[in-house]
Amino acid sequence: MKYFLFSKSLCFLVLNFTLICSAQKNSSVNDINFNKDWLFSKGSQPSAEKKDFDDSNWRKLDLPHDWAIEGPFDEKYNARTGGLPVHGIGWYRKNFTIAPKYAGKKIAIEFDGAMNNAKVWLNGVYIGERPFGYIGFEFDLTPHIKFGEENVIAVQLSPEDLASRWYSGAGIYRNVRLKINNPLHIPQWGTFITTPEVSRERAILNIQTTIKNSGDSAGKVTLQTNILDNNGSTVASSTSELSLKSGTEKTDTQEIEIIKPRLWDLDSPNLYKAVSQVKKDGDIIDEYTSSFGIRTISFNSNDGFKLNGKRIPLNGVCMHHDLGPLGAAVNYRATERQMQIMKDMGVNALRTSHNPPSPEMLEVCDKLGIVVIDEAFDEWKEAKVINGYNKYFDEWHEKDLRDMIKRDRNHPSVIMWSIGNEILEQSKKDGWKIAKMLNDICHDEDNTRPTTAGFNYYPAAFKNKLAHQVDVVGMNYKPYNYAEVKQMYPDMIIYGSETSSQTSSRGVYHLPIQADLKEGSKHVSSYDVVVGPPWAYPPEVEFDVQNENPFLLGEFMWTGFDYLGEPTPFGGRDNSTNGYWNDDWPSRSSYFAPVDLAGFPKDRFYLYQSQWTNEPMVHVLPHWNWKGKEGQNIPVFAYTNADEVELFINGKSYGRKIKGINKTEIPAEFKGFEKGMYPSRHRLSWDVPYQSGALKVIAYKDGNKVAEKEIKTASKPTGIHMIADRNNIAADGKDLSFITVRIEDEHGNLHPIADNLVKFQIEGDGVLAAVGNGDQTSMASFQIPERKAFNGLCLLIVKSTEKSGRIKVTASSPGLDPETITVRTE
Ligand code: GAL
Repeated sequence: MKYFLFSKSLCFLVLNFTLICSAQKNSSVNDINFNKDWLFSKGSQPSAEKKDFDDSNWRKLDLPHDWAIEGPFDEKYNARTGGLPVHGIGWYRKNFTIAPKYAGKKIAIEFDGAMNNAKVWLNGVYIGERPFGYIGFEFDLTPHIKFGEENVIAVQLSPEDLASRWYSGAGIYRNVRLKINNPLHIPQWGTFITTPEVSRERAILNIQTTIKNSGDSAGKVTLQTNILDNNGSTVASSTSELSLKSGTEKTDTQEIEIIKPRLWDLDSPNLYKAVSQVKKDGDIIDEYTSSFGIRTISFNSNDGFKLNGKRIPLNGVCMHHDLGPLGAAVNYRATERQMQIMKDMGVNALRTSHNPPSPEMLEVCDKLGIVVIDEAFDEWKEAKVINGYNKYFDEWHEKDLRDMIKRDRNHPSVIMWSIGNEILEQSKKDGWKIAKMLNDICHDEDNTRPTTAGFNYYPAAFKNKLAHQVDVVGMNYKPYNYAEVKQMYPDMIIYGSETSSQTSSRGVYHLPIQADLKEGSKHVSSYDVVVGPPWAYPPEVEFDVQNENPFLLGEFMWTGFDYLGEPTPFGGRDNSTNGYWNDDWPSRSSYFAPVDLAGFPKDRFYLYQSQWTNEPMVHVLPHWNWKGKEGQNIPVFAYTNADEVELFINGKSYGRKIKGINKTEIPAEFKGFEKGMYPSRHRLSWDVPYQSGALKVIAYKDGNKVAEKEIKTASKPTGIHMIADRNNIAADGKDLSFITVRIEDEHGNLHPIADNLVKFQIEGDGVLAAVGNGDQTSMASFQIPERKAFNGLCLLIVKSTEKSGRIKVTASSPGLDPETITVRTE
């Protein structure tokens, strides 16, 4: 039996103070938000790196910025990457001055990520480059800074066409900081916090803190680490004395005991902070805060994953990094909303397919209690796309992988390091050598978490020993091979790293039910009987296999949210690494998720909820607006986590159905997963003659009514109704309110097929952030104040300014009563 016990905790660096002229008298550690007032220009610009280059007609903007989401959608762009201009050259420049009093300090610039092939100049001098768009990086600017004078930083990005299998975005799409440090300071990612001993009674923290002396003379410092609980009270501390010669760095290890620690768990994601103060002659010259949690993780080939000793089946999702209509530009609230919606569905785990996530995503998962597989690569040396990471692999893989781990190792949410997804070396004889090398790098950086990878070549990846190089083996789309693998390799720890890949479009129901795509439609039916690509299979296949094979850790369904790009099943799949892929234009975003691109749940959301949550729920589909089909049979499905469901139409019962009596059977004609299937023991279904009115389901558990849902036939659309997810947001220029816009009839029923064009007027202390509707085939801009409803719904996202006040939003559409709502900002 193979068993890994990892008891570590993790944290994350975060900055310090936000102003260049900080009031922190003794602290020279200032991480300055450096997102504001950049100038941007698209296209090649000879000499744009030069200090005196004329940028007077460039566009002024704040970061994070994704130029690709500005569009336009065009058939000439690859549908695989969203039909948006994710390639080309983009330049960013920023002028800044650093007061003379900072002369002698160390000045650095830190990017959380730039997409991609970033090259950076300061005052015309080339500083450095970083090809990989998903990794954070920092450059020392000190030698070329002019104190008291204007400095110009210039960044050129050159993302290439055919460089990604999904929408990557383009631009400086993550946060940027300027750092002003004393020569003696804690460098980037300078703490590593683990918890070698954890019980409910006490925990031992092991804190490794690196201190760097980039000054000209030797220095003696005191390192004081204070541990703060989540109320901000200091619960423990430790002090060390260090002497550092000029030009050296040292890593000091402190062991700190915490009595009765509050553990980080899924239901109570308790976090602590380590505040590391560097003191010289009694003055604080650096202060560095790391967030971390105290928990244990273990992985076992027989009984799965345990968090703090408790078995947790991983109900996971894979997610790409884009934020739907907002594109790839990182935003904390948009990220948090995504994961809150996932949590509502019952998700407890995330695989950051197929690249290092934003720091914000890990912060959100730490706070919400979601465990994470942090994935590094989609390619090694073998290319999946012409201009993919394979071009950079030899030169950069080690630094990129080490930096990902250094950046993320303090997060309690991170439980595994993934070295790759479906890498093509799986079928190569010597592929295992690269796997071993990457695996060793991970263990070298962090021996507290296991490594993993997602394998889809079966049995090739096992025969050539590649799968044997990682600690925990992820299998993509192989539900019926888990047991076989377990038999062959009883010690292997296994899980479904990618599962299902079912496809659908929200609110679309093709009748009669059929297992094929509807001819001519670029939408996929939400009966979830059509599956999608050949490797896909319905969710319940995985539910059953997971239940029958409790040695599995769980699954990571593809994907939590629809994402831009990869509009499979349209356009087929081009693995040939060349050419465009637009034969089914227009369709520009994925169909895979139970939640659409705007964040609205599809029916499948409730199928997962029925499996992954305990709070009683019941869901019914389809909608109940079938004018012209009166008297014809309509298939009705119900999803519940209770025992049985009774269906009523206009008060008349169509009988109760009991859940789970038959194992999910794949009808013979659907063998091989090419097609979907129903019924299954996870869906209850009726065929009922249509009559307009009320369709109602009541769920019973142990004979008692525990949940109900009713949908009514909507009469003609008469009004617009807006519901903001939050009516109070922060006046910080970043916070967002997501406003669901419903087209309703006179009784307030959602009109399930309405497609009215809604125009928005936004007044006061907010701006338009984006619009969307979840329609995978819409080529309308995400950035104009209007949107057509798609099956009754569209979404408006408004952003605060830095002025507190009110955002007044009016929605109107010809023939409908308009509506106005107010969002407060403070
Ligand atoms: C997998 C792949 C994912 C995505 C998915 C779609 O093979 O790892 O990135 O392409 O298929 O079903």
